[in-house]
Amino acid sequence: MRATLLPYGHQSVDEKDIQAVVDVLRSDWLTTGPKVAEFEEAFAERVGAKHAVSFSSGTAALHAAAFAGGLKPGDEAVTTPMTFAATANCILYQGATPVFADVSLDTLNLDPRQVEQRVTPKTRAILPVDYAGHPADLDPIRKIAADRGLIVIEDASHALGAQYHDRNVGSISDMTVFSFHPVKHITTGEGGMVTTNNAQFAETLRRFRNHGISSDARQRQSQGHWHYEMVLLGFNYRLTDIACALGIRQLRRLDENVARRRAIAMRYCEELSGFPQVILPAEKSEARSSWHLFPIRLRLERLTADRAQIFRALRAENIGVNVHYIPVHLHPYYRDRFGYKGGEYPVAEQAYERLISLPMFHGMTERDVEDVIRAVHKVLTYFASDI
Ligand SMILES: Cc1ncc(COP(=O)(O)O)c(C=O)c1O
Repeated sequence: MRATLLPYGHQSVDEKDIQAVVDVLRSDWLTTGPKVAEFEEAFAERVGAKHAVSFSSGTAALHAAAFAGGLKPGDEAVTTPMTFAATANCILYQGATPVFADVSLDTLNLDPRQVEQRVTPKTRAILPVDYAGHPADLDPIRKIAADRGLIVIEDASHALGAQYHDRNVGSISDMTVFSFHPVKHITTGEGGMVTTNNAQFAETLRRFRNHGISSDARQRQSQGHWHYEMVLLGFNYRLTDIACALGIRQLRRLDENVARRRAIAMRYCEELSGFPQVILPAEKSEARSSWHLFPIRLRLERLTADRAQIFRALRAENIGVNVHYIPVHLHPYYRDRFGYKGGEYPVAEQAYERLISLPMFHGMTERDVEDVIRAVHKVLTYFASDI
């Protein structure tokens, strides 16, 4: 057994990253300065979008996208229950109503047929999530949206570096949201980004993150202007130059990071495919996952233990497994506010009972990967039922 706990996710920060941050600390700009623009430009180029607007977190980026998408009280937006609460919360921030649609059994991404059934005359947007790094079914979702004049805000917090039909995630939806939390493919500590090809959305996003002000401090200084105008009710959601310096460096390693995650995923698949007690995450032919997570599903009928016992057994082996996600509608806030009782979204709920995320991050060593495989073998063999 391992001597120390292997976390399910972890950042990788090298000496050059640290030096880049130190250099900014010695410069004139700590917050919105040249590094913000540099990071945004490099990011837009990398994903193939016309615009990239940075935010202080993925959650702030989601809030801004919901605002720019025009969500308002009385509107509905269709999203998945199989996500982190922030995806649905951004709809509530705008006073609109999240309407969940169940997920597909294979990828646990939004099922387009279920989305179609949930669309009403009040629907304004669809918010698919690229669960675990696997792109959502974007073509059918975009078709539903196009037919009805809806906006697609893709939560790609898991999917930087992923592809769908050979196109980069970030270049496909009306707006795509990313997170740079430390467990993600690149990190800025906290941080987020929205990419879009729509100049109007980009302008609104920039204003929204800066108190609704129509020009930023650097522009005003370079133009010698004291004047500014607050034109909408925004927030201070700016990402700092300190963070962006880290982001610029991290972005250069994105391909390497995604390739390493893919290699780990392939190794897990190879080593665990012989176990009928688990269902491994699928990758559809049109998709290249960026493998943010490696969620396995337990086939409980082939085990003598439930998920909680298997989870505890793996933790006892010092494997820092996790669970992604408690379906959003089952959280007390959503139950109390909207009356969910469980049973509304059977595919997501049954998946939740069976899910365990194995450690997955680009900094894992071969030894770490071996430790996970060995522990999973041991626990599954121990709890395997005879049938
Ligand atoms: C799917 C999803 N959406 C949104 C977020 C929120 O991002 P952040 O933590 O950067 O606010 C996360 C979290 O990490 C996430 O996993």
